[in-house]
Amino acid sequence: MTGDADADGDPGMLADVAALAARHIRARRSACVAPARADEILSERLAAYDFAEPLDGVTVAADLLDLLGGHAVRSDHPAYFGLFNPPPLVAAVAGDIVTAAVNPQLAAWGHAPAAAEIERKLVELFGSLVWRGDDDAAGTFTSGGSEANHSAVLLALARRYPDWAQHGLPCGVRPVLYVSAQSHLAWMKIARAVGLGDRAVRLVEPEDGLALTGEALRRAVLRDGEADPLMLVGTAGTTAHGAIDDLAGFGQVARELGIHMHVDAAWAGGALLSPRGRDLMPGLDLADTVTIDPHKWLAVPMGAGLFLSRTWHSLDEAFGVTTGYMPATVANRRDPYVHSMQWSRRFTGGKLFMALATMGLPGYARMIERQIALGDRLRSRLREDGWTIANDTALPLVCFSALGAEDVATKKIEDAVVGTGRAWLSSVRCRGRLVLRACITSFEANEGDVDLLLGLLNDAREPVAR
Ligand SMILES: Cc1ncc(COP(=O)(O)O)c(C=O)c1O
Repeated sequence: MTGDADADGDPGMLADVAALAARHIRARRSACVAPARADEILSERLAAYDFAEPLDGVTVAADLLDLLGGHAVRSDHPAYFGLFNPPPLVAAVAGDIVTAAVNPQLAAWGHAPAAAEIERKLVELFGSLVWRGDDDAAGTFTSGGSEANHSAVLLALARRYPDWAQHGLPCGVRPVLYVSAQSHLAWMKIARAVGLGDRAVRLVEPEDGLALTGEALRRAVLRDGEADPLMLVGTAGTTAHGAIDDLAGFGQVARELGIHMHVDAAWAGGALLSPRGRDLMPGLDLADTVTIDPHKWLAVPMGAGLFLSRTWHSLDEAFGVTTGYMPATVANRRDPYVHSMQWSRRFTGGKLFMALATMGLPGYARMIERQIALGDRLRSRLREDGWTIANDTALPLVCFSALGAEDVATKKIEDAVVGTGRAWLSSVRCRGRLVLRACITSFEANEGDVDLLLGLLNDAREPVAR
């Protein structure tokens, strides 16, 4: 007996769709990076889908690729110097296809032993890079950096208040989190989600407007007499400026005051795969927990976050539950659902496994160091051409402005460059002024792309300067 033929397509269609996806990837360099918005065209094209009749799968997939690629900022383009959204590595896309085809259930170890063990191996690899040789680090894959940071708060709560898992917060306590004012503001959403609210997040201003020092952090904690310090969060690679907080200083404060230390290395944590990148984050090993997003610098498809902890025990405290309807735990194995906010979960590690296995650690190291070198090139060429560099980082993220430019002029330059459709960059505030921000986001970017951006910037500056 066969199943309901209408309920599913022919698996052979996957080969045709994969061929279309491959063509899309090959063509991306020739795409317009930032096409004009096409709201009306989009509504018209989507109106054609009333779902009344079944359509041919390959035809729909071709249309979907065209819709997604043709009417969007092409963050997969080599001349996209934007936010931390690189194109996905082909091997990682392949890993995601395999994952979707098999669809392992990552809740219980016994249901998906290979997937669970692959993820454990990856957790141990990244844990040993963070904690320098400690090969028993704990952790779990997440949907992204926000979930990983959220997990850190739950672990800190479980550690700080031993009855929290059963009874919630003790009466009258006001736990607070200390983070740089330059941190990623998912911290606000997380504070709301755990019932603490925005005011529990102390946004401490870095003295230089970029990276927060341990001393400034210590002063902020000590000034805060009545509050109950729950955790200190250092950021390694801030979203706006690529700054790295003084993690060694944070570690000292955390040890002295007995506070949980978390490092949000969502983007820059990927650089741990390169020897040069590893040296950029001194003090990272002092963290109790760390966030790294493989869907950022490590270029695997979204969403892929990684939450690392020094110990399994703290993950048990935060997430541990038991129930009779789950399959029995296999002796000496860990069921992923008791270490994660998620229950049924995608095999997120599969795409990273494919990328690592096919490129090897040396391949990833070369990719990262090439991007760091391109950042250096952009920085030095900008200086040579009379631009002022506004941030201070060895990571490939450069903030800069035209000499003496007011905010309006900076915005005009940004709009002019983006308006050419040949490159994309953004603007951010840095020490009170609007500056341009260019991040070497794509592993396909090369010297020609950097020089193209520079040419477009110089052209855009001319009329504004006049
Ligand atoms: C430093 C940092 N932390 C956390 C996040 C949030 O990560 P996600 O978007 O994967 O949830 C970002 C996103 O850009 C980030 O830059």
